[in-house]
Amino acid sequence: MTKRAVVVGVGHYLPERVVPNSEFEQTLDTSDDWIKSRSGIERRHFAAEGENTSDLATHAATAALADAGLVADDIDAIILATSTADLTFPSAATMVQARLGMTRGFAFDVQAVCAGFVYALSNANALILSGQAKRVLVIGAETFSRIMDWTDRSTCVLFGDGAGALVLEANEIGENDADRGILAVDLNSDGRYQDLLYVDGGVSTQTTGFLRMQGNQVFRHAVEKLAKTAETALESAGFGPSDVDWIVPHQANIRIIQGTAKKMGLSMEKVVVTVQDHGNTSAASIPLALSVGKARGQIKSGDLIVTEAIGGGLAWGAVVIRW
Ligand code: UT7
Repeated sequence: MTKRAVVVGVGHYLPERVVPNSEFEQTLDTSDDWIKSRSGIERRHFAAEGENTSDLATHAATAALADAGLVADDIDAIILATSTADLTFPSAATMVQARLGMTRGFAFDVQAVCAGFVYALSNANALILSGQAKRVLVIGAETFSRIMDWTDRSTCVLFGDGAGALVLEANEIGENDADRGILAVDLNSDGRYQDLLYVDGGVSTQTTGFLRMQGNQVFRHAVEKLAKTAETALESAGFGPSDVDWIVPHQANIRIIQGTAKKMGLSMEKVVVTVQDHGNTSAASIPLALSVGKARGQIKSGDLIVTEAIGGGLAWGAVVIRW
């Protein structure tokens, strides 16, 4: 018998306010056409004033628990991937824990920017495989609208707010079962590239800052590193790209998504794409795409999925899941 972390629930939440590209034309030297053609983004959601990351995360978690047919106290651990927590501490994860009414187990945040959800899944998988937790709620939630420089057209048109969540459960997989669950993980970071994507302020430096990005440099690293990490993870699960039913990529730029699929020799028909509706929601983008992909009827039980993401650090990685 092999133990696996199996997905038993998924959900997401998007703030009510939808901001089309045209809104930026009023304040910046930009156009709907530039944003669409360079990034694939058509609109994004922004959180309301007073609506914080833990609020978005709680909504997504509630939806995932309902999908799993579970209640908060069935969960042993919450891992929340975010770079935009409500406060410096406590973690946004403990805020979600309290709001869900979960009075047992433990909760913590993971910060690996856009790769955060992949890192969180890897942590959840390790907790389950080691026997430390039977059920883990893994959330990606962000309010990147709060760290935008609204005068910088090269960044502020790209990001959005949102949250997505999965419930993972330890299952004993017998020889005759479909081999569901997390099958392999590949994580990487290289701090030499930290100047390519960062926030120029923080607690220890006693400053507040905004997101800064050398977009075209990040772009160059992205296609190459994403295809490689996806293929490495697939290989360690005993598969190749041709076995994949769905790539569920981090949704930063349609050209990166297309370039990665092409490098892996896969058609865009095998890719879940939500970037047009959500923009780049950092750690929330993969669980959002998983949830939307399932709701659209694209992702079905038994499908072989590879998720991949890259972001500030640089930090990147991939997870192979049999859904
Ligand atoms: O999720 C974390 C990881 N992040 C990413 O994966 C983002 C990676 N990067 C990208 O998605 C792309 O590099 C961008 C969408 C950010 C930019 O696309 P690009 O094709 O790499 O354009 P560029 O940065 O090379 O800029 C081309 C031109 C520049 O003008 P000049 O210097 O050629 O005159 C920019 O100033 O486009 C200009 N530009 C804009 N023009 C209109 C930059 N932003 C805008 C804008 N509207 N919003």
